Amino acid sequence: MRRFLIAGNWKMNTTRHSGVALAGELAAVVPQAETGVEVLVCPPYPYLLAVGEALVGSAVHLGAQDAYFEAPGAFTGEVAVDMLRDCGCRYVILGHSERRHVMGETDAIINRKVRAAVGGGLAAVLCVGELLSERQSGQTEEVLDRQMEGGLAGVSEAEAAQVVIAYEPVWAIGTGVTATPEQAESAHEHLRKWLARRYTPAFSEKVRILYGGSVKADNAETLLGQPNVDGALVGGASLKASTFVPIIEAARKLSA
Ligand code: PGA
Repeated sequence: MRRFLIAGNWKMNTTRHSGVALAGELAAVVPQAETGVEVLVCPPYPYLLAVGEALVGSAVHLGAQDAYFEAPGAFTGEVAVDMLRDCGCRYVILGHSERRHVMGETDAIINRKVRAAVGGGLAAVLCVGELLSERQSGQTEEVLDRQMEGGLAGVSEAEAAQVVIAYEPVWAIGTGVTATPEQAESAHEHLRKWLARRYTPAFSEKVRILYGGSVKADNAETLLGQPNVDGALVGGASLKASTFVPIIEAARKLSA
């Protein structure tokens, strides 16, 4: 049985003060004894340490939104996997659509990052997802296959055990338009079949596939209720406890 992962991607939002306050509120509702649902928050780099401190004593994990693939050295402006671990991170989001489409990251770059993360002891949340034009022209599965092949090239099964996949249709991110539960389930099922072919069917059953794209309290339960949806990567609704906690509650209800 896969354990739900509810992850908050704060993107380039919050201040040190508001981020610490939000982390404190989440820590209060996700005690160390939390078992059914795993909760993760990914604040901006400068707030990792302060947010991590606010999470002490809770079961909320800390993650980063990106990492560079090289070991520490002369790479101005970048952040290494070792540094993220040193700051208490357990996870790192990689290949988010904003990294792909705003910063121009390719599958080859994302692959190097995935390999550096899992090789360096961080779990990677590898994001994949099609543009609206790609969905409209019937290319969704082809795009997902390409991003999976690219992102996981050279990643062994043992390494892939440290990978979570996030299906995030680009047209649903920050738009208020959510994929229907059927659209999400169909993409997730496709991704799981891809994992079964690339690794083994037994292994594919263990990999968590999150859905991301305008997840909110009122659609979380139906999305998470789909057989192949194992959690959510939440942007906008993760910025307030009042909108994020109900998503955790929906997962708790389904896992009870
Ligand atoms: P959203 O963002 O929930 O604001 O749509 C999701 C994401 O980009 O991870």
